[in-house]
Amino acid sequence: MKTANNQPSKRDSFASSFGVLVALAGSAVGLGNLWRFPYLVGQNGGAAFILIYLGFVILAGLPVMLAEFIIGRRSHASARKAFQKLAPGTRWGIAGVLGVICCVFILSFYSVVGGWGLEYLYKAVCFDFTTGDDQALKTMFSGFSTSVWRPLLCHTIFLGLTAGIVIAGVQNGIEKFSKVMMPLLFLIVIGIAVRSMTLPGSGPGMDYLFMPDWSKVTSETFLAALGQSFFSLSLGSCMVITYASYVKKEANIISLCAQTAAADTVFALIAGCAIMPAVFAFGISPGEGPDLVFITLPHIFSQMPMGGVIAILFFLALILAALTSSISILEVIVAFCIEEFKMKRKVAVAVVFLLILVLGALCSLSIGPLDGWTILGRNIFDLFDFLSANFLMLICGLLFVIFVGWKLGRKAVFDELSNGGTLHIPAWLLKTAIFLIRFAAPAALIAIAVFQVKE
Ligand code: TRP
Repeated sequence: MKTANNQPSKRDSFASSFGVLVALAGSAVGLGNLWRFPYLVGQNGGAAFILIYLGFVILAGLPVMLAEFIIGRRSHASARKAFQKLAPGTRWGIAGVLGVICCVFILSFYSVVGGWGLEYLYKAVCFDFTTGDDQALKTMFSGFSTSVWRPLLCHTIFLGLTAGIVIAGVQNGIEKFSKVMMPLLFLIVIGIAVRSMTLPGSGPGMDYLFMPDWSKVTSETFLAALGQSFFSLSLGSCMVITYASYVKKEANIISLCAQTAAADTVFALIAGCAIMPAVFAFGISPGEGPDLVFITLPHIFSQMPMGGVIAILFFLALILAALTSSISILEVIVAFCIEEFKMKRKVAVAVVFLLILVLGALCSLSIGPLDGWTILGRNIFDLFDFLSANFLMLICGLLFVIFVGWKLGRKAVFDELSNGGTLHIPAWLLKTAIFLIRFAAPAALIAIAVFQVKE
């Protein structure tokens, strides 16, 4: 077997550490920030949810990200193989396989929502939101999302774009695409936030985002916040393991992880500032749920000065954000197929494309004609979302921190975080990182799980 320092030359890698950062941030920043975060904030009472969310990013998200990074970079292998290399002869590989399964679930519904984004960009370009009538916009969205062919077509196009980037490889596909799109994405969303915050009557929206109201907090708020922190940082699904396996030994793990988490959190807050002030300025309730972005926002765009242009920019941003994330989810599954089944990249992309095309089609149809098919009281779309964000990702995250903190152990963690002592990282920082990985993250994850079972 080739060792970590003597990798097979055909294994792809990122070209620069800026490339690694934009790719990781590109994966983190996605529909989770622009679609999921705003409606969860709306449903869970605003600022209090945001504070709990931030707590989990630090206590659970960061340590899991560090753990995944260590696993990936130390092994230079993807998902299951990584565990096999680091702990030969054990069953830890199962944790990697669970992560890959989680990615299959996520990509299936993610691609459907990405497809909705494409449809809405098209509608925005055709100035379809000029009607200020809320009911008409509701009918427009439900008519579209419950129909059969058009959402399927959009899902296919979105998945095709994702596959087209991943087929070009890590350096030529993922890294190049993310380098151009991420700065553009930040610029667009900052522009929209400025427009939204300067609307007359936007003040209550800002209060909602930044003044906590603890009375709305329930035990479900905690699970939702934890699940969202994992979803938004792309954790517990082998994404960071896979990307880190393409990273050179010299990279500074703590700094890359902290920058990624910071970029994602800042982006989520900017997205909040782009959406909530406008929602309040037009006197609309923020607790709409998953439809917020597709019904409430078009309603607002139809009434706001320059709304037509803002609508185009918003849905463009949504698609760019979704694409830099969907490529990372696809890459996990593709890398797994390449390494486990010795497939060529092109073949692996084609096989996974077909698999997700079918599963995504089931998700899409489960909102329309197949909505009678329920498992655990949920349609397929909601089931995939629930199984991944509230279940598999958290279990995998727990397994990853336990693996790194307790199986690899302190010395290996010290070694990886300081690159064998060559990076001069202050002792308190190393100790804090190790404490978070060994104690804080497992405790937070187990506490939430116990709470959940008790409910
Ligand atoms: N983090 C992305 C978002 O916020 C979604 C995502 C990308 C993801 N890769 C992932 C989620 C891997 C879970 C696992 O939209």
